[in-house]
Amino acid sequence: MARAGAKGAITADPLDFTGWPEPGWQRLVRFAEEFVIVPKGVGAGEPFELREWQVEIVKGLFPESGRPRTGLVSLPRANGKTTLAAIIALYELFASGTLSPQVMVVAGTEQVARHTLKIASRMIELSPELAERAHLLQASIKVPHTGGELLTAASTVAALQGFDPSLLIVDELHTVTADDWEAASSVAGKRPQSLTLAISTPSDSQDSVMFELVKYGRLNEDPSFYFKEFAADQGCDLFDREQWAKANPALGDFLTADGLLSVAKTMREAAFRRYRLGQWVGANDSWLPFGVWDALAVDRHLKDGERVVLGFDGSASGDSTALVAVTLDFHVVPLNIWANPGEPGWRVPRGDVGDAVAEAFDRYDVVELAADPWGWRSELEEWGKQFGDRRVVEFNTGYRNRMGPAADRVYAAVMEKKLTHNGDQRLAEHVRNTVAQQTAVGALVQKDKKNSPRKIDATVAMIAAFDRAAWHGRKRSRKAVSF
Ligand SMILES: Nc1ncnc2c1ncn2[C@@H]1O[C@H](COP(=O)(O)OP(=O)(O)OP(=O)(O)O)[C@@H](O)[C@H]1O
Ligand SMILES: [Mg+2]
Repeated sequence: MARAGAKGAITADPLDFTGWPEPGWQRLVRFAEEFVIVPKGVGAGEPFELREWQVEIVKGLFPESGRPRTGLVSLPRANGKTTLAAIIALYELFASGTLSPQVMVVAGTEQVARHTLKIASRMIELSPELAERAHLLQASIKVPHTGGELLTAASTVAALQGFDPSLLIVDELHTVTADDWEAASSVAGKRPQSLTLAISTPSDSQDSVMFELVKYGRLNEDPSFYFKEFAADQGCDLFDREQWAKANPALGDFLTADGLLSVAKTMREAAFRRYRLGQWVGANDSWLPFGVWDALAVDRHLKDGERVVLGFDGSASGDSTALVAVTLDFHVVPLNIWANPGEPGWRVPRGDVGDAVAEAFDRYDVVELAADPWGWRSELEEWGKQFGDRRVVEFNTGYRNRMGPAADRVYAAVMEKKLTHNGDQRLAEHVRNTVAQQTAVGALVQKDKKNSPRKIDATVAMIAAFDRAAWHGRKRSRKAVSF
């Protein structure tokens, strides 16, 4: 018997597909069953039985008529993306009937592309019929009977020059730039029939070629573009098993729930959503895990004369302006949020803001007003004169060493359920809008992007007020002890 390898001559006859379905998805499914062996993991060593959902994908890619030019499958980690790509590659090489099939595997780096080559080579080694009809080389696979070859490349324009693939596989499209994607798909368009197939988890940014394709796929019924997305519902609970199953078709099959559970507990939320739930989460992580803020709402109003700290974050026109009260036992009540209703030339009504501050001092026992001075210095001086310099203090929310720890304190209070709020919807929205950049001094809260309309000023005012309320609380308990 001829051995697979560079030198050995191939003496076996070509594979005989007499009586098989025509080239297309049905032939592919049978090819996998008869010639491919699961190389590792669950079911290793056994013939490859494509699951129903995998058959659906293959059907979409190789339909009886009208084959798509491009396919995109968005799948979370460990759902057999690379394995499925390798099977499709082998089918193309051995059984598709394509003349001189050329399979190119590209990825962000050649190393990742080589992974598919390795799996395909391993599948050939495990299958005596395929092994005696192929040469397995260091960087390629050759199938003399069909004139087929499988090659890998980094997806750079230069690396792709001169190829003419009938099947181009992009593993982990999220690692590929828009230019590279364009180069790859144009190189694959030379033959009358060819397929560019991308299989990937979502990117870390919606500003990516993959998201462009996902948007296109979600909105268009285009027979030349096959799109399939496995993802949990946006904003779903992190531990919702039904959502896990929705996003992970292999769950309970060759992907175990135990493994996913331990990852869910330890991985950062945004990463879990992206890699394991197939969701688009953006580059920055949301500050608080989904749902925890809303769960802290209680029906409690501020009483007249109640001791509070006020937090203030002011703006002139672009962002909003927020005045938030926090009691010394950490109940949060936004007193007012002034926001541009979308009118050009709108300015925050500074007089109204001053009135609201005066009303708060009048109505509650205000321990302190902690205010970001940016753009409001003269008002701060004015309020200092009116309500006492010691009660009106600057809280520079742009100072990282102060805001980082302050935001972390609120985060901890939220997670430990030591904070409540009155359920105000605008504050909830600002909290939802808040993303966090993790730094050495703590999580820096910020908007999702610089000029984003998703405001966070009430979050910032709340953090300032909370921080000072915590400080006054500590001061008071120290006094109590030393008395
Ligand atoms: N029907 C099947 N389809 C795909 N993989 C299977 C199947 N049955 C068992 N497996 C095994 O499941 C594992 C899937 O791993 P694979 O690397 O293909 O997943 P992936 O989605 O590419 O993962 P990653 O996100 O880490 O790149 C392999 O060990 C494979 O052998
Ligand atoms: Mg993979």
